[in-house]
Amino acid sequence: MQVRTLTDLDREWAAALVTQHFGSPVIVSRGICHHARILPGLVIQDEGARLGLLQYRIVGMRCEVVVLIALRQRQGLGRRMLSELSTVARAQGCRCLWLITTNDNRAAQRFYIALGWREIAIHRGAVTEARKLKPEIPEHGQDGIPIVDDIEYEFSLDEAGPRVAPPLSAVGEDRRLP
Ligand SMILES: CC(C)(COP(=O)(O)OP(=O)(O)OC[C@H]1O[C@@H](n2cnc3c(N)ncnc32)[C@H](O)[C@@H]1OP(=O)(O)O)[C@@H](O)C(=O)NCCC(=O)NCCS
Repeated sequence: MQVRTLTDLDREWAAALVTQHFGSPVIVSRGICHHARILPGLVIQDEGARLGLLQYRIVGMRCEVVVLIALRQRQGLGRRMLSELSTVARAQGCRCLWLITTNDNRAAQRFYIALGWREIAIHRGAVTEARKLKPEIPEHGQDGIPIVDDIEYEFSLDEAGPRVAPPLSAVGEDRRLP
């Protein structure tokens, strides 16, 4: 098993995979549209077969995980890709990784918590807003749960361990956790 940098040869595959999982190659995060054909990323593969995709963007000292998909679940693929991203992000001066997931995605929430990520905010109604930019976002998700809110997680890259996240600009009725 190997984690490598995403190349131009992976871009069509990445866009198709993201479309298959999230309805289109566009991901809306905190009001911004990101395209899977453009974002940098990592690919995990085994004997040439692609088994997972991570795409990210770095702004200042924060690295956002925009896409994370493991094609075989509970085999450590997600963990391996995030571990490699930590190395990449640290090398580029980042102090933390962060991401949002939707309120229905309980499996992803359990995964991030198991890996030591910290839930730092609930952005109420964010998915309702995102649907205006991306109508393909379904109304209901896993277990028929209405998809309404984004939950934000953060993982500190500081050697000293978790730190308090800097405040983001206040949006709507967001609730930032203490
Ligand atoms: C979320 C996702 C990336 C996790 O990747 P994964 O490769 O299956 O996870 P890993 O095997 O690395 O799991 C690491 C640990 O996280 C925890 N974990 C992972 N999935 C879990 C689940 N469904 N329920 C509870 N705990 C889970 C476990 O502690 C696991 O360790 P263990 O298997 O030794 O017990 C994967 O399920 C996925 O691709 N989901 C679909 C796309 C998606 O929702 N992406 C996230 C969008 S924000």
